[in-house]
Amino acid sequence: MIVHITSALVCLCTAVFAEQAHVTYGEIEDFTKYQDQTLRWAPYRSNCYFGIRPRFVNDNPLMMGLIWFDSSSVEGLNQLRHQVDIGDKLDKYGYEMYDPRLGGREVIIDSANNLNLTIHFVKSRNGENWATRVSGCPLDTSKGKVSSVVMYFNQNGGQGTLKSDLTKRQDKHHTNLVGFSPELGNYDLSISDITGNYYSRGPALGKDADSSKTSHMSFNVPDDQVWKARDIFQSMLGESVQELLATGNKMHPLSLPSALIVRNINNFPSGNFHFIQKTFDLDQPFEFDIIYNKKGSKQRITSGNELTALISWTMAELDARFNKKFSIEDPNLKQFAQETLANLMGGIGYFYGTQMVDRETQLDEEQFDKIELKRAKEEGPLQLFSSVPSRAFFPRGFYWDEGFHLIQMMEYDCDLVLDILQSWFDLIEDDSGWIARELILGSEARSKVPQEFQIQSPNIANPPTLLLCFSELLSRVLKHQELSLESIDDDSLASGLQTDQLLKRPEVLTSFAKKVYPKLAKHHQWWTESQKGFTEEYMEALGDNVHPDEAFRWAGRTFTHCLPSGLDDYPRSQPPDEAELHLDALAWAGVMTRSMKQISEILEMPDEIERFARIEQNILENMNTIHWSEQDHCYYDVTIDDDSDELRRFVRHEGYVSLMPFALKLEPRSSDKLRWFVELMGDKNKLFGDYGILSLSRMDEYFETGEVYWRGPVWINMNYLFLDSLAYYFEDGGDNQDAKTVENARELYSSLKRNLISNMHRVWSQDGYVYENYNHNTGGGNGVQHFTGWSSLIVNIMGRLPESL
Ligand SMILES: *[C@@H]1O[C@H](CO)[C@@H](O)[C@H](O)[C@H]1NC(C)=O
Repeated sequence: MIVHITSALVCLCTAVFAEQAHVTYGEIEDFTKYQDQTLRWAPYRSNCYFGIRPRFVNDNPLMMGLIWFDSSSVEGLNQLRHQVDIGDKLDKYGYEMYDPRLGGREVIIDSANNLNLTIHFVKSRNGENWATRVSGCPLDTSKGKVSSVVMYFNQNGGQGTLKSDLTKRQDKHHTNLVGFSPELGNYDLSISDITGNYYSRGPALGKDADSSKTSHMSFNVPDDQVWKARDIFQSMLGESVQELLATGNKMHPLSLPSALIVRNINNFPSGNFHFIQKTFDLDQPFEFDIIYNKKGSKQRITSGNELTALISWTMAELDARFNKKFSIEDPNLKQFAQETLANLMGGIGYFYGTQMVDRETQLDEEQFDKIELKRAKEEGPLQLFSSVPSRAFFPRGFYWDEGFHLIQMMEYDCDLVLDILQSWFDLIEDDSGWIARELILGSEARSKVPQEFQIQSPNIANPPTLLLCFSELLSRVLKHQELSLESIDDDSLASGLQTDQLLKRPEVLTSFAKKVYPKLAKHHQWWTESQKGFTEEYMEALGDNVHPDEAFRWAGRTFTHCLPSGLDDYPRSQPPDEAELHLDALAWAGVMTRSMKQISEILEMPDEIERFARIEQNILENMNTIHWSEQDHCYYDVTIDDDSDELRRFVRHEGYVSLMPFALKLEPRSSDKLRWFVELMGDKNKLFGDYGILSLSRMDEYFETGEVYWRGPVWINMNYLFLDSLAYYFEDGGDNQDAKTVENARELYSSLKRNLISNMHRVWSQDGYVYENYNHNTGGGNGVQHFTGWSSLIVNIMGRLPESL
C-alpha cells in the first residue's frame, strides 16, 4: 500500500529518509540490527504518562520524564501528574495512534488541571534520533489557569555526562544540553518553544523565582532514585516556598506560580540530572519541542519545521499501516480499534532491575492455606521487553497476559512479537526451566505492588500463553512459506519501512527456534513436572487407559483461590484434595506440547517430534478418559472421592474451564463432542449473554458469589479464543459435523462477535476506556480501567476474524 501524503511533504521526507530506502535485510544479523535500531527509543517508561528511555541500554541510559500541574493554586501541588495513577481521575489519557518503531500521539485530558495536552513522539527513520512535541491548551477557556510543565532528564551511569551546551543558544525559549554515554555515544538535546505565553501576571519573587522564564536546574541524583523525580521536585518546591515565606515579605497572590518554581536554594553543584520547568499562562495555547540527536547522525532532526513534517509523515504512516492490517469500515469503530491497539502497544516497556524470589519455602500440598513467601532474596538484575496489562494498575510483565497481548500484536507486526517473545524466553532459567509469573523488576516496579505479591516462587506456574502465541506464529510462518513459494509479497517494500520480515525470511525463525529450543524444552519439563498430578487412584478407578505422567493440577491453590490458573476464584473442587486434577492445566500442557512438537518439526528433529507427539497424544487421551463426563456431555476438573463407588468424582462447574479444550483447539476437528461445546456456549440459561460468553454458568451454585471475578463476568481474552476456535472448527462447514451443529455454530459466532463489539464500543464511547472485564448483566466496565492488555483483542475481533462463518 502506498502512503498518500502531500507532495511537498513527500519531498521533504524523501530527503530526510533517502538514506534508509535501500537497506535490505537478507541476513539474520541485518534482521537483528533492524530490530535493534528501529526499536531502540520509545516512551518505554510506560508506567509514566510520558517517559522515554532506550531499551537494552542498562549501564548508561538516558532517562526522561514529564510532570505537570496547575500552579495557580495551592491545590495544584496535590495534582502533580507523573506516573499513571487511576487516583488522578483523568478524563482521558493514552495513545490515539502509536507504534514503538515509528512513534505516535498521546492525548491527556486533565480537568482538575484544566489542561488538554497532546504529546507527539517521533523518530528519524533509522531510529537514532527522536523528538517530542508537547502542545497544551485549556479545557475551559473561562477558567484562567496556569500550567506548569516540568521535564527531567538524567544521564545515568558513572561514565555518562549531561550538561548545558555552552556553545549553543541558552535563553528563555531555548535550552540546549549536551550528553555522553558509553553505549549511546555523544548526543545533544534541545528544548525550544514554539508558541505560548509564560505566566507574568504577578511580580517575580526573585531571580530564580520567576514564572516568566524557563527555569533550569541541574544537580546529581543517584541512578536508582531518578524514578522518584516527582517526589524530589515536590520536596524541593516545599523547601523553596518555605524559604520565600521565611523572608517575611508578603507574597502577591498572583505570584504563586513564581513561588512554585524549582530553585537550587541549597547550592547543589551541577550534575547529570536536569529539571526544566516552563510555566504557561493558559490564556493562550502553548507548544514546545524536545529534540534528541546523536552526534554525527546523518538523519538529524534539525528544526521545528522538519519535526512538523516528520510528525505528519508518521501519522500518515501509522494510519496506512493500520489500514493495511485491519479492515474496519465504520469510522467510529475504526477509531475505537486504532486507539485500543495504540494503547496496547503504548504499554510496551523496557524493564531492568532485580526481582524478589523465595526458593526455599515449599508448598504445602495438604493444607491449602494461603502460602506465605517469607524467605525472599533479591536476584538479578534482569531485563525484560514486554507490554503490560494496564499502564496504571499493572505496569509490569505478566506471563499469563503476555501471550494474549502478542496474539493481538501479531496481526500488526510479527517482528515485534518475535522480539518480545525472545526477551521473555531469555528469562527462562537454564538450569531449572522456571520463569516467574510476574516480572517485577527493580524498585520502581516494586513500588506499585503490595509486599505480599512481590515475591515469586519457582513452584508456581501460570498458563503458558507465550507458547500458545509461539505456536500460532510458527503455524503462520509455515503457512506463509508455502504461499510465498509462488508469489513474492512486495507490499511492505512499497510502504517504506519494512515489517513482517519474519514471514519472508524463514531462516530468521529457524535460527530463533534453534536458539531457544534448549530453554523451551527445559521450560516444558519444569512445567509438566511441577504441575504433574497424582494419578494412582485414577488408574485404580479407570484402568490402564490413564497415562500416569500426563495429568496435571495447579500447584499452590488455596481453599478459595487458584491464582496459578489465572482464573483466580473460578470454583474448583470443594473440599480441595491433593489428588484433584485440573482440566485447564491439562489443556495448557497440551498447548505447550503441541508448540514443542512444531518447533521440533521446524528444526527437523525426528526424535523430538516423536517424543512430543506421544506426550500430546497421551494428553488428549487423558482429557477424554479422565475429564469427560459422558453423562453430562461436558469436560470437568476431577477429584477423588473415597465415599463414592466410582472413586473419581467430576467437579461439575460449567464455564471457562470446561470450555478450555475447545478454546485451545485441542479437540480434533472431526470430534463429535463439538456439538456439546456449541450447545453450552449458546445456552442463554447458562453461558450465553448479550455482552459475551460468561465465565461461569448462571445455573452454577457459585455464580455471582464471593468477589464475582471469574464467576460470571465476561472476559475478552477467553471470548476471543471462543470466536477464533469457532472459526477454526466451522469456517468451511466443519469436518464431519452435523448440519444442525454447523448452523448453530454459525449463528453463535455472528451473535457473539456482534455482542462483544457493540458492548465494548458502547462503553468506550461513554467514558473513553477499555476495562479488565465486563459485567454480564449490564455490559458495564468492571475491574481495572484502561485495561488495554488482553481486552485489546477486540481489535482482532473487529478487524481480523472472519465477518461470518
Ligand atoms: C484538545 O485539543 C485538541 C487539539 O487542539 C482538540 O482537537 C480537542 O478537541 C481538545 N479536546 C478537548 C476535550 O477539549
